[in-house]
Amino acid sequence: MSFTISSLPEKTKPRADAFILALFSGETPERHPFSAQLSPSSKRQLRRYSKTAFTGAKDEVDFVVFASGTPPAAFLVGLGKRSDWTRRRQHLFFRRVVALARSQKMTSVAVHLPSVGLDGEPDADTVRAAAENLWLAEYRYQPYKRKPDERRKLATVDLAVQNESAVRTALATAKTVAKYANCCRDLANTPGGDMTPSLLASKAKEIVAKLPITFRALDKRAIEKECMGAILGVARGSSEDPRFLIMEYRGGKRTDAPVVFVGKGVTFDSGGINLKPAEGLKEMHMDMSGGAAVVCAVAAIAERKLPLNVIGLVPAVENMPSGSGYRPGDILKSRSGQTIEIGNTDAEGRVILADALDYALHYKPRLIVDLATLTGAAVVALGFHYNALFASDDRLGRMLQASGDRAGDPVWPLPLGEEYAAEVKGTIGDVSNVGKHRYGGASHGAVFLQQFVKKTPWAHVDLAMMTSTDGQHLAPGASGTGVRLLVAFAEDLIRSDSARHA
Ligand code: BES
Ligand code: ZN
Ligand code: ZN
Repeated sequence: MSFTISSLPEKTKPRADAFILALFSGETPERHPFSAQLSPSSKRQLRRYSKTAFTGAKDEVDFVVFASGTPPAAFLVGLGKRSDWTRRRQHLFFRRVVALARSQKMTSVAVHLPSVGLDGEPDADTVRAAAENLWLAEYRYQPYKRKPDERRKLATVDLAVQNESAVRTALATAKTVAKYANCCRDLANTPGGDMTPSLLASKAKEIVAKLPITFRALDKRAIEKECMGAILGVARGSSEDPRFLIMEYRGGKRTDAPVVFVGKGVTFDSGGINLKPAEGLKEMHMDMSGGAAVVCAVAAIAERKLPLNVIGLVPAVENMPSGSGYRPGDILKSRSGQTIEIGNTDAEGRVILADALDYALHYKPRLIVDLATLTGAAVVALGFHYNALFASDDRLGRMLQASGDRAGDPVWPLPLGEEYAAEVKGTIGDVSNVGKHRYGGASHGAVFLQQFVKKTPWAHVDLAMMTSTDGQHLAPGASGTGVRLLVAFAEDLIRSDSARHA
């Protein structure tokens, strides 16, 4: 999909098979800014859609074929009350445009951006939202189809804005961000058999090859040398060796402490000896979604040459049941020296992250953010629409929440605290990888991780069902959640640093 940009008013006319006439409740189509571009007979045709025929209610849609043929058609799309218009609705609106065009086999559409911007938002921000979401919506995962479905592809979208030159940068930014979000979806969608820890390492290496990133993947021997007993313990049940991915991007000042992103890279989570039930097992190749998001976010940040030092770490293992696998009751010695008592081999994510977080500390980072599909409890708590946020530092938590809202990749806070820390005290080991009670599982996972970050400001994002695209107007499979969150967070961090130094 490519974009053209028309400056309004009238300098260049939008070009398209169909105009998108997005209307808030009570607005009539012939008052839409695009109607100035329509022929008198098309305008007359639109007049039939007075307030009663098309009310502009949320999700109301109509398709009009013009007799005059220029442009051939228009989609009337209801946006609901203007006062209810949010970033979230805006994102879903752009995604729906792709589905609408596809439904009528339209290969080009035009959207008038100022009229779907948020209150006071410059066109550049609307362009970013539009282009990112249109690209995300176009994505299909088809490498295993003998004949990929290329039909009914939306080829061009014309974005009509007030001032063309003001939005060029935003469009380029959106392209990079969407490319890496979709790249993350490719990684997460790949079946477990084709995305083992070593294959994930070589894919990641490919992704960053042309970027200003130093990349290393520690193999099993190197992981042993690092004394990462937790990663090695989880990996033991699989015939696939673990890897530990390290990506270093230094776009900031040499002396600036880096930001470290850590992502859970369980390439398939069977549960291990505590084998998972059949339901949902098939989706467990996506248990590396956090790791994939970290790889792709660091790549996006580096490609854009953002002025920030960023390290990405991904412990990658496969969690399998076997005679050599780690057992419930086993004690693993983590890199930090703390021993981990295994209450359940299915709580493997926090175990491998323990070593990765400890490794992160040797960078003396200014802050750490980890992303992980850590608990079913986060899925139960938040469902499809938010990821769970835990933060040891209020400012960091608030920033992540704001960045997530802006990016359309939102997080919602859940608690940490000493009551939860008591839940993961070990009986014969230092820490237990499960809580003493059934309830509050997402916080148990988070507070377990906190034992390994010492005093460094740290936040943990438990990726819930947002990893899958259900309810998000995207093709079935992985959503790429986390990439836009981390990229927006990096942007906001840079902005707040420069505001403080100004
Ligand atoms: N990867 C799972 C969590 C998960 C399940 C994420 C379903 C998304 C969808 C994780 O490794 C896990 O199995 N966690 C256990 C922990 C429990 C044994 C303490 C869980 O949440 O059931
Ligand atoms: Zn598990
Ligand atoms: Zn898992």
